[in-house]
Amino acid sequence: MATEAAATARWLLLPLLSPPQSPHKQQQLIFGALLLLFFFSSLQSLHCNAAAGYNEQQEADRVAFLPGQPSSPKVSQFSGYITVNRQNGRALFYWFFEAQALPSQKPLLLWLNGGPGCSSVGYGAASELGPLRVSRNGAGLEFNKFAWNKEANLLFLESPVGVGFSYTNTSSDLTKLNDGFVAEDAYNFLVNWLDRFPQYKDHEFYISGESYAGHYVPQLADLVYERNKDKKANRYIKLKGFIVGNPLTDDQYDSKGLVEYAWSHAVVSDGIYERVNKVCNFKISNWTSDCNEAMSNIFRQYQEIDIYNIYAPKCNLAQTSRVAAFDHALEASDQEQFSRRIRMFSGYDACYSSYAEKYFNKPDVQKAFHANGNGMLPGKWKVCSDSILRSYNFSVLSVLPIYSKLIKAGLRIWFYSGDADGRVPVIGSRYCMEALGLAIKRDWQPWYLNRQVAGRFVEYDGMTMVTIRGAGHLVPLNKPEEGLALIDTFLLGKQLLTHR
Ligand SMILES: *[C@@H]1O[C@H](CO)[C@@H](O)[C@H](O)[C@H]1NC(C)=O
Ligand SMILES: *[C@@H]1O[C@H](CO)[C@@H](O)[C@H](O)[C@H]1NC(C)=O
Ligand SMILES: *[C@@H]1O[C@H](CO)[C@@H](O)[C@H](O)[C@H]1NC(C)=O
Repeated sequence: MATEAAATARWLLLPLLSPPQSPHKQQQLIFGALLLLFFFSSLQSLHCNAAAGYNEQQEADRVAFLPGQPSSPKVSQFSGYITVNRQNGRALFYWFFEAQALPSQKPLLLWLNGGPGCSSVGYGAASELGPLRVSRNGAGLEFNKFAWNKEANLLFLESPVGVGFSYTNTSSDLTKLNDGFVAEDAYNFLVNWLDRFPQYKDHEFYISGESYAGHYVPQLADLVYERNKDKKANRYIKLKGFIVGNPLTDDQYDSKGLVEYAWSHAVVSDGIYERVNKVCNFKISNWTSDCNEAMSNIFRQYQEIDIYNIYAPKCNLAQTSRVAAFDHALEASDQEQFSRRIRMFSGYDACYSSYAEKYFNKPDVQKAFHANGNGMLPGKWKVCSDSILRSYNFSVLSVLPIYSKLIKAGLRIWFYSGDADGRVPVIGSRYCMEALGLAIKRDWQPWYLNRQVAGRFVEYDGMTMVTIRGAGHLVPLNKPEEGLALIDTFLLGKQLLTHR
């Protein structure tokens, strides 16, 4: 019996692409959204009536209303610049949303996107997990009912300088960007932001992010942890933990994972796979030219599909900056004797980014947003900066030692992975977890949402790894309900649902 069922299952062909939503389902969604709208607007008015005063600086940063924003529910939001280095004139741009209900009782959650060079405003906030997402073609904004400010006060930061609206008055800064530089500026941002919003000083603080923020997040957590040791010299920041999604963590394991994922998901031929295994030694950070060439063959197979979400339809908008950046990266790897690797944005979807680019370049939007006040932006606002990606100094190969250290320090650490991502695939992440050598507390098992397996998780002694079934690189975009369940569970220190 059992073998028969298994045999049948093996031959079942599941549709790979989700069918368009039925009209009935849409009605349900609209009805649900209306209910939520009603619920949130009543909550909001309760909150406003009871609101504590906001100081003058906060009022100056308050965003009353963005062009094209839905008139309800009300969204309590702020945006502006925080100076992180006076001498060189560096300022980072933020967008902050108070929690939808009872903000004074909710933790503070920082979100960072990666790239390096990609904007947390354009990606995290406006395309993924923020309450206001840019609608199709950048015409306006839509309320996101799975926004992560349900359980947290949610802070998006455009980092480092040169990304999005963030800038420096000393252009040579842009040639010096590396992980250490980024962490230092982000730390100064936090300290100065908490000066501007002192009501959040005593809130529990968590850091989150995806992709190349797999470097930024643990590194910033580490810096906060270190500076917290000297309470006299530094502001104490009530850091409780961090959570990262499809994070670049360790070059060796992530590269090995990328190759094995491409082969095991039928993207590349046996020949290409064998060639890489023959000529590449990922233990050495310096790839040989044979290895670069063999790896180029893998990336080429991905050009016709979306490496960030391998079963999703590819965005086929006309020639986009993403495709261009990708092609340049490949060319560069041939021409410029790239001794290390093919550069490619980690987490970059052409369609979504083009909507965001349309919206955030509108003068009335920038005005309402307190951005680019005296036109200091050198060009257009971009969701990812090609030049930052190219000039970035990739000097850190692994952040695993930081994990070991901060696990010992007792921080809450979660690591999640959309299992349809080919760029920072779940296989490499599993190698990373294995390398940490932690004892298992609860073995690999499914977690559930809406009576379906939403993914799997494993609880180690000191951290938790979660997968999201069928999500790509941008989990909150691909699986918004699962993403919200995940962040709420993390923030509340609970456990994912282990039964239907
Ligand atoms: C950068 O320069 C502009 C123009 O002089 C100035 O208004 C701005 O305050 C400077 N930014 C910082 C962070 O010092
Ligand atoms: C990388 O390879 C180049 C050329 O083979 C070599 O000159 C350089 O020293 C290597 N760098 C490292 C960090 O191994
Ligand atoms: C890259 O960063 C490392 C680590 O901070 C530093 O030692 C190195 O000099 C930097 N390289 C360049 C080209 O700036």
